[in-house]
Amino acid sequence: MKKLVFILFIASVHYFSYGQKLEPNYDDSKIPFYTLGNPLIFNNGREVKTPKDWNRRRAEIYATFESEQFGVTPKWKGKVKATLISQKSDALQDLARRKEVRLELINGEKKCVLTLLIYLPKNSKNAPVFLSYNFDGNHSTTLENDVLIPESWVANKKELGITDHHATESGRGKQLSRWPIKEIVARGFGVATVYYGDVDPDFDDGFKNGVHQLFDSQRDSKSWGSIAAWAWGYSRIMDYLEKDNDIDSKKIIVMGHSRLGKAALWAGASDKRFAMVVSNNSGCGGAALSKRIYGETVERITTSYPHWFCSNFKKYVNNEQALPVDSHELLALIAPRPIYVASAVEDNWADPLGEFLACVYASPVYELLGSTKFGATKIPELSTPVNGDISYHIRPGKHDVTLYDWNCYMDDATRYFKLRK
Ligand code: GCU
Repeated sequence: MKKLVFILFIASVHYFSYGQKLEPNYDDSKIPFYTLGNPLIFNNGREVKTPKDWNRRRAEIYATFESEQFGVTPKWKGKVKATLISQKSDALQDLARRKEVRLELINGEKKCVLTLLIYLPKNSKNAPVFLSYNFDGNHSTTLENDVLIPESWVANKKELGITDHHATESGRGKQLSRWPIKEIVARGFGVATVYYGDVDPDFDDGFKNGVHQLFDSQRDSKSWGSIAAWAWGYSRIMDYLEKDNDIDSKKIIVMGHSRLGKAALWAGASDKRFAMVVSNNSGCGGAALSKRIYGETVERITTSYPHWFCSNFKKYVNNEQALPVDSHELLALIAPRPIYVASAVEDNWADPLGEFLACVYASPVYELLGSTKFGATKIPELSTPVNGDISYHIRPGKHDVTLYDWNCYMDDATRYFKLRK
């Protein structure tokens, strides 16, 4: 009996302290004192003075993100086989050309299959393209009823009427508001999208599915999680885009929302072929500074989504000040290529101010590489973008991707790539 009472006591202490720690902080006056690492100081204390120094410093920061946050991506010696499976020259009421391409990622005997959906402006040659995963299947981005439904595992989403882990016709067009494809092609951009679950299913599956199973590697505390797997998937899609003559592969903008924004940032850091990176409401583990402990924390994210990062990231649960890197350095890894960070004012979970401050603190690296200083020290008014090689906006509303967001990204890409308006 005594033993039972003791166990119950321990369990309740654990429960209450755990519960308390899990309560998010939304009060700026309760932000702890924190010191961010200086991206322009080497691990040995020496100063980074030249762009050449930065290359070496960049490698240090990248290696730290690999071992402490995202995990190390295994070496790839496989190939990507592309097969055109459909094409339509008069898609979207004759505004666009559309094609679906089957991409087989082949590593010896092992294979992972992705279906890429591409919309291009009707009469374009060599179009700049936004590459972005979708959450619910390619068919959720459009009302066009001949776009394929994914065969792979999909999230069990009641609102889509999905109960058996497979996408159905009922999900067609359900994400339309996030995919204003007509408006995008009208401005001369293409869109390339893949269902993210084709690349790696978003659940803790012991890394047996998706691209993880292409490799035999033993798992350890530095093994890659799903965010790194999605980022790596973006690079394999890029392998195909580079060979597609309808696309200007020097103008690929990798863009992601939320968890896929985290993946877009890591893709941009890992693969210099992406000319521009967009982080839409990426929050914790993405553009938001972890050390602020505002909204979602390392504890929350590694508890709810243990498969997203390498297990070393758990060392920083309630121990954020020990993190050797933070999100300003993640943005800096993308320099000098343009990065656009966007927040939504009601999206406190993603810590808009933390996302903004990462831009401020990434700026010295961009400046060393020749960019002008990031154009704000205080978070801007709503819907007032700050533009430069680092761009930022905060808009009214919730955690989402809206036409406003897309228009800002297109304005920025038009300016950066000097496209005709
Ligand atoms: C959850 C998670 C976030 C993530 C978001 C999303 O809210 O806590 O980290 O960004 O899902 O991907 O929609």
